[in-house]
Amino acid sequence: MGIRIDDLTVSYGKENVISGLSLDIPEGCFFTLLGPSGCGKTTLLRTIAGFVPAAGGSLRFGGIDVTRLPPHKRAIGMVFQDYALFPDKTVNRNVAYGLHARGERGPDVARKVAEALERVGLGHLGDRHPAALSGGQRQRVALARALVIKPAVLLMDEPLSNLDAKLRVQIRETITELQREANITTVFVTHDQEEALSMSDLIGVMNKGAIEQLGRPQEIYATPRSGYVADFVGAANRLAARLRPAGGGLVEADFGQGRILATDAREIPAAEGLLILRPESLHLSTAPEQGFQNLPATVRSRQYLGSKTSYRLDLGNGIEVMADLHGPGHDGFAPGAAVSLGIDASEARVIAA
Ligand SMILES: Nc1ncnc2c1ncn2[C@@H]1O[C@H](COP(=O)(O)OP(=O)(O)O)[C@@H](O)[C@H]1O
Ligand SMILES: [Mg+2]
Repeated sequence: MGIRIDDLTVSYGKENVISGLSLDIPEGCFFTLLGPSGCGKTTLLRTIAGFVPAAGGSLRFGGIDVTRLPPHKRAIGMVFQDYALFPDKTVNRNVAYGLHARGERGPDVARKVAEALERVGLGHLGDRHPAALSGGQRQRVALARALVIKPAVLLMDEPLSNLDAKLRVQIRETITELQREANITTVFVTHDQEEALSMSDLIGVMNKGAIEQLGRPQEIYATPRSGYVADFVGAANRLAARLRPAGGGLVEADFGQGRILATDAREIPAAEGLLILRPESLHLSTAPEQGFQNLPATVRSRQYLGSKTSYRLDLGNGIEVMADLHGPGHDGFAPGAAVSLGIDASEARVIAA
């Protein structure tokens, strides 16, 4: 079932946390709400679930108005950051919980539970209690418990945040696989851009209770619509610039220490704006290179990070940019060195202020 949100307002007491939010999540979509702590992600998710009432507007699942329905009538499965398992019940009984609550009994329940546990890779642990499981295993149990009832909508609130980096990547893959297999409409909440980019069909970047940009991961990353989105999703150098259309989908951005041609398909009018340069799109060399727009720069600092080196560069007049270099010899420029910064017009973006 697709989810349709129309003009939704949610408040705690007098304060509106969400005002007039509209959003269409297609059936089968893996949709991620991405934003910093406090921007309203959990509130929106809990409103979709029915735990927080809507003060205004409507919510529909598959065309059916669920705005006034309690959570247990909304056919949702939910997974939380802190797992929320019953500590006194075995894994089997935890997973069976939703089925029992629906009045299901007998061998069918045991079969469904066993299947669900098998699918999250825990077929052998049904008799354990949650305390005897690792964090990753607990979250797999929570996932099995959410999916065993075959919900129409799967809701997840930062389910990976309590796990260490390696497990996070493993469970990320499990979640994505299960979601694709069941083709279940999913709303996933995270503050982690990497999770959002790697898992989602669609991302809504949230800012202060509103969705600031909606798009596929590639769109959000390559063509952020605001400095906020550029900065929150991936690192970005943001330089205040005077923008002037240059034809052919290009814009000239004058940031004081140079003029750079950047890509902007929207043909924005002459204006003050921001030149956005992704650190990994920048090139460094000892002398100007063909095929790039070159600017003189001085290396201020160098951080060797193994797979890449991160450089802070001074372009003069107090303007600094970060450049990340990959590939052989990426740590080859020393602090103090005079270098040439190479910028590819197709990788530089502008945003109207
Ligand atoms: N139960 C509550 N009562 C009052 N204010 C709340 C409550 N829950 C959240 N808020 C406020 O609503 C805003 C959004 O919070 P939340 O939805 O939890 O954001 P996020 O999940 O993005 O961190 C915050 O300012 C938070 O302080
Ligand atoms: Mg939250």
